[in-house]
Amino acid sequence: MNHDLTIIEPQMAASPLDANQQIALLEQELAVLRQEQEHLKTEALALKESSSLYQQAMAAASNGISLASATLPDEPLIYVNAAFEQVTGYSAAEVLGHNCRFLQGPATDPLAVKAIRQAINEGCVGHTTLLNYRKDGAPFWNEFSIAPIHDAQGNLTHFVGIQADVTARKQAELALQESEQRFASIIGSAMDSIISIDEKHQILLFNAAAETMFGYKAAEVLGKDLTFLLPGRYHQHHSQHITTFSQTKTTKRSMGTLDLVYGLRSDDTEFPIEASISQVEVSGQKIMTVILRDVTERQRAEEERHRLQEEIIRIQSSILQELSTPLIPLSDDIVVLPLIGSVDTLRANQVMETLLHGVERQRARIAILDITGVPVVDTQVANALMHAAQAVQLLGAQVILTGIRPEIAQTLVGLGINFGKIVTRGTLQSGIAYAMGQDQMV
Ligand SMILES: Cc1cc2nc3c(=O)[nH]c(=O)nc-3n(C[C@H](O)[C@H](O)[C@H](O)COP(=O)(O)O)c2cc1C
Repeated sequence: MNHDLTIIEPQMAASPLDANQQIALLEQELAVLRQEQEHLKTEALALKESSSLYQQAMAAASNGISLASATLPDEPLIYVNAAFEQVTGYSAAEVLGHNCRFLQGPATDPLAVKAIRQAINEGCVGHTTLLNYRKDGAPFWNEFSIAPIHDAQGNLTHFVGIQADVTARKQAELALQESEQRFASIIGSAMDSIISIDEKHQILLFNAAAETMFGYKAAEVLGKDLTFLLPGRYHQHHSQHITTFSQTKTTKRSMGTLDLVYGLRSDDTEFPIEASISQVEVSGQKIMTVILRDVTERQRAEEERHRLQEEIIRIQSSILQELSTPLIPLSDDIVVLPLIGSVDTLRANQVMETLLHGVERQRARIAILDITGVPVVDTQVANALMHAAQAVQLLGAQVILTGIRPEIAQTLVGLGINFGKIVTRGTLQSGIAYAMGQDQMV
């Protein structure tokens, strides 16, 4: 709207006006002036109304609004709204005339403050989130922005600041950040490889243990198919296994049932692994996590343990064999083999072997086979003992069978066993006596 007054110049010089004409002219001018006055009144009213509307809007705003002078030294506040008072706990009266830095404190990030200082110095828009302190000393996160205000001539006159208390959001962000860090450090410090894949079996997560185990950096394998880490012969079977698992409702399972037990390192070497798999659905996306343990050492230890066990069993059995068929030399010519406990075919064979070797080694003339300690002598045992005695005789030695108790003698007779040239004695002593040439009963 044009506020300039329109002045109608009286035409005095052209032809002098009479009094009536002059009065009419003045009335005309007066009417124009009255009209202008009405305009100005209306405008002033409108301005007043809109200014009070702005003030009401600022007062009702839920964000803090502040105005600072850009022409006075140290940008003092000249206006703060009710929300500013509410958020900061300071009344307008307490803060007007002061720079807004009174809201800052020990944990306010100096870099954020520096960015605002720069925006003010350059007379431009600035935006930051920083820690401020209420009047009662309680900290709050203030997301605030400042913008320059210029007059009609383009001179910088003020800065307007908008403050928003974003403490709740910031705390949630920090909590999320912390929990992510915690999660990352747990995953990162795990001894087992943790590898997560999506429904297409593409690797989403590859922890530090997996990096060490497979010899790849996470960046090298992320997005790759999981089979990248397996020897080729397992690819098809493995993919099928994972697909089947993802289609089940099962949330976790050991992969022990799967024949696959080998991983493939970046240097193409293979290593045995123990695996388990679990699945979760996050925001509609299925994520499967495979936990792998390198069992090379365990397998090696198991093999060693197995080898040692076999060795112990072998030594034990040879000791037992020696103990079960002990050959005692009585003199240069005579050896005694006392048998204790039951005798089966295997032991009878051992008896034969021990006797033959002993007789040959000692060049013995007489071998005494004592069965005092054998509880049962059946056909099989009797035959086996007879074979042993006959074999010894073939070496040129004589066999004396001692310890034949009456019931055994009865059994042997009942069995119809032919003792041929084998000398028999009831007791070991009489057998020894015989062998020593003291027995006269032969
Ligand atoms: C309009 C306006 C509002 C401001 N509001 C805040 C605020 O809410 N919190 C804050 O820490 N700083 C605020 N500042 C910034 C500080 O007043 C000051 O400019 C900042 O600390 C950088 O200056 P300095 O380095 O001299 O302290 C505001 C500045 C202006 C001009």
